Amino acid sequence: MYFNRKLTVAIALISGAVLLASMTAIQQQPQQQERKLVNIKVFPKSITYRQLDHVMDGWAKALGVKCTFCHARNDETKKMDFASDAKPEKLMARQMFLMAAKINKKYFKAKKDSLGMIMESSVNCNTCHHGVSHPEVSLASNGPQKGPVGPGQGGPGVAQPAPDKKP
Ligand code: HEC
Ligand code: HEC
Repeated sequence: MYFNRKLTVAIALISGAVLLASMTAIQQQPQQQERKLVNIKVFPKSITYRQLDHVMDGWAKALGVKCTFCHARNDETKKMDFASDAKPEKLMARQMFLMAAKINKKYFKAKKDSLGMIMESSVNCNTCHHGVSHPEVSLASNGPQKGPVGPGQGGPGVAQPAPDKKP
């Protein structure tokens, strides 16, 4: 099914190295009792808690944030409620994950391992975020532009020319 294949490919967002490392670790150790995952919408359903945990660590690093950036705390229990979708950042992260998976599938020939997970991903969270949760589109702060950026190059709303370079 096309959608399911997309879900499988969706793992592309995980840094290939991190995923590979986690799966090697799993193979070397006897399978532990897995914690149950209750609200998984974009990762493959077969993902284990351990694998997910590695992905989460990677995301936190890529965005330069803590788990609480995306995950809500339950006020009554005073504990983290990782399954909760209360925070908009978590919903955004799902969209970002699907976006990057789509890019990898469409424009890069991502290689899959025996679990159907992508081992080499071309675009991942870090490609754009580089340790920043909210990457700004600011050409001005990236040094001088070579020539004006028109709609043909950047597209409307994508790249703004620096103020002094306006045609
Ligand atoms: C950039 C946002 C983001 C950050 C940072 C993040 N997470 Fe997540 N987390 C998600 C999303 C999105 C999902 C749901 C994935 C899905 O729907 O397939 C998730 C799911 C989970 C789940 C599964 C919950 C369940 O049972 O449904 C756990 C556990 C979890 N994260 C732990 C962590 C931990 C621990 C950290 C910090 C190391 C962390 N997360 C950092 C976005 C994030
Ligand atoms: C192609 C570039 C790109 C990739 C890849 C990408 N992001 Fe983003 N992300 C952005 C941009 C640009 C924004 C800011 C959007 C805006 O201004 O509203 C953003 C915003 C976000 C936000 C909202 C931050 C906030 O301050 O509310 C989250 C969460 C996020 N990204 C998570 C992720 C995760 C997790 C991944 C990897 C699965 C990822 N992104 C991959 C470009 C990217």
